[in-house]
Amino acid sequence: MIRELIVPHCRLKPGEMWIDPEGRHLVGCGDATDETYINRLMERKRADLLVHDPPYNVAMFKRRTVADYIEWCRKWVDLSVGMMADDATMYVWMGADQKNHFQPLPQFMLLMTETGLDSRSLITLRNQRGYGTQNNWMAVRQELLCYTRGRPVFNVQYTDIPRILRGYYKKVDGVTTENLERSKSDCIRPGNVWVDIQQVFYRMEENVNGCAAQKPLKAIERIIKASSQPGDLVVDFFAHAGTTLLACERLGRRCVTLDIEPVFCETAIRRLEHFRMTGKTGWQMGHPFAKEMKQKQVAGTR
Ligand SMILES: C[S@@+](CC[C@H](N)C(=O)[O-])C[C@H]1O[C@@H](n2cnc3c(N)ncnc32)[C@H](O)[C@@H]1O
Repeated sequence: MIRELIVPHCRLKPGEMWIDPEGRHLVGCGDATDETYINRLMERKRADLLVHDPPYNVAMFKRRTVADYIEWCRKWVDLSVGMMADDATMYVWMGADQKNHFQPLPQFMLLMTETGLDSRSLITLRNQRGYGTQNNWMAVRQELLCYTRGRPVFNVQYTDIPRILRGYYKKVDGVTTENLERSKSDCIRPGNVWVDIQQVFYRMEENVNGCAAQKPLKAIERIIKASSQPGDLVVDFFAHAGTTLLACERLGRRCVTLDIEPVFCETAIRRLEHFRMTGKTGWQMGHPFAKEMKQKQVAGTR
């Protein structure tokens, strides 16, 4: 019902793109597997960093056989690899269905062995909410795969968790030295298991109602800060709530993002505009299309 109401208010129709009037970003409405459209969006630009969060082949989005899902992934993975700069990083969020042999994570990992990229990290983000608590271990993990080409930048990141143990020393040539990396911050590094990031829920400012698969801004900003420099080009084929777009805006990177669904393209653009106008990262309990929904209600009561 809401989709029909909102679509007429979306700036982008399939095949179109929104060019940021401030000249930094681009939002496309199209299919991540459509080579012609992706080439039109990119105009031969090379990406320094890609951050993809595709549907995980679960019921919420379209569910396919694993083989079909991997063939679909192969198309956008190939396009992604083709646009990577000589020194670049690609992150992909991926699910693992514990009731179905953890598909599609292992199959996706195998697919990535064919790309020529180097595997770099397998990160797990710990959700706070889980499912399956009564009969199984509560499922609270989201996987984040990291691959590189060449020698891209990696900026060490820190959590907000204070470092309790000080004084980790090591001996170099018989001389006891402090581990310099450890003394750069009073907080610990996140490592490859991220337990310090709050999953988005309706009371958080960054919440975007209507976007059930929204990733925490803190997670995306951590990726971008670690694996790119100011001014770099970041690409995200699956925009949804526009989290990568917003993170790029806040961190001074350029972003090209797209979504197949006009409503999510419009949501992403509105989120960026809302941030520029108010400094807020989302709508918390409000809605990006509140005005349109209210107009409909008023019209309905007449
Ligand atoms: C898991 S969500 C991305 C969440 C996003 N990282 C965020 O934080 O809001 C996946 C998105 O991919 C979009 N999508 C699905 N198939 C697509 C395709 N073939 N091309 C482009 N986008 C697609 C869906 O509409 C959905 O918005």
